Amino acid sequence: MTVQLRPVRRLRGTVTVPGDKSISHRALILNALAEGDAVIDGFLPAADCLRTLECLKAYGAQFKREGERVRVRGRGLGRLQEPATVLDCGNSGTTMRLLCGVAAGVDGFSVLTGDASLRRRPMARVLNPLRAMGAQVDGRDGGTRAPLSLRGPSGGTLRPFAGRLETASAQVKSAVLLAALAANGVSRLEEIAPSRDHTERLLQAMGVDVRRDGPSVEIRPGNGLAPLDVRIPADLSAAAFWLVAASIVPDAELCLPAVGVNPTRSGVLDVLTAMGADIERREERMMGPEPVADLVVRSARLRGTTIDGDLVARAIDELPVLAVAAALAEGVTEIRDAAELGLKESDRIRSTAALLRALGATVEERADGLRIEGGRPLHGAALESAGDHRIAMAAAVAALVAEGECQLRGEETVAISYPTFWRDLAQITGDTAMA
Ligand code: S3P
Repeated sequence: MTVQLRPVRRLRGTVTVPGDKSISHRALILNALAEGDAVIDGFLPAADCLRTLECLKAYGAQFKREGERVRVRGRGLGRLQEPATVLDCGNSGTTMRLLCGVAAGVDGFSVLTGDASLRRRPMARVLNPLRAMGAQVDGRDGGTRAPLSLRGPSGGTLRPFAGRLETASAQVKSAVLLAALAANGVSRLEEIAPSRDHTERLLQAMGVDVRRDGPSVEIRPGNGLAPLDVRIPADLSAAAFWLVAASIVPDAELCLPAVGVNPTRSGVLDVLTAMGADIERREERMMGPEPVADLVVRSARLRGTTIDGDLVARAIDELPVLAVAAALAEGVTEIRDAAELGLKESDRIRSTAALLRALGATVEERADGLRIEGGRPLHGAALESAGDHRIAMAAAVAALVAEGECQLRGEETVAISYPTFWRDLAQITGDTAMA
């Protein structure tokens, strides 16, 4: 479907950004592996997280969802049942990769598939470590792409993992940690760059012995997991759209309460601050195992920057909307070391460049990122989501400052991670026609 987007001069208000997607997946999975009852509050009821919930039902966990509250009855580690059907992970890489880690520890046969985008994405990065731990895994395209099949150890346990993960990916790391819960000894893994550590924090809060030392994580499977009642912080990756929107719209001030600011995830705040954004963190505090803050953002004059090295993994999902900020900033922005961006729900090097080019920006696509010449006004255009939720939302943010109207095709894809995006946008722009 297509939506018409008009420029605005003013943004005001408080946006209650929905629950964090990464933590919502993990709260479901880890509580399904715990034995007993838990309540999750602030759950993100978006398509991706609901896929995880449905797949976990096939393993025998029980869920009762009322809006953003989910009651979980976990089966207990080692007690998951063999799924009677194929697990459809939809568009969700996190669902597929984390559930590979779960499936590797189940005494039974699991088959995982997804939509056309997910079936194109690389899976060897997660299957290889699980194979090294003794799981039987296979997949299309020489065992590298979904549909995937996994069979855990029959009656026995997996071998502990020891080694380096060649991709800086929290999904791969989490899959190994989940499989390590079913191993017969201590697993040790090393990351090439720090990735989000939500799994480690939740595991610790659930009583599992997980130790972190620089790039190394060590996990000692012991007495299983204790069910954990959790409140989930607002999603920084969703808040990022409003952080950029308020930075580039001339007269803006937005408040975003209780947003997750986990340092392994908060690269977007560092990048925007380096670009000259006016972002205030108020009331920094803990929400369960995760740090949160109320963020206040106001219009600012942005300047170009460089995003590379470890910063890339800490801002990976925010790069499309940061590219929009870069197009409006004074000077050049370079995104480097970001080949991973080409392997997301769409090839985001290509889809971000296409979006900015359609709006009249000067962008160069590179194998590992983008070079954006900022400072020129954007103009209204026909825009494409490329079937990618974050491209659709980045397009909506750019349209707020383009001269003239934009038409965005594929606007429904926001439901993957932010089902109330259009309602929230209408609220802060005062444009009731959009809600
Ligand atoms: C996620 C990790 C990141 C991120 C994705 C969510 C997670 O992917 O892009 O949206 O919840 O672990 P990679 O692990 O592939 O970097």
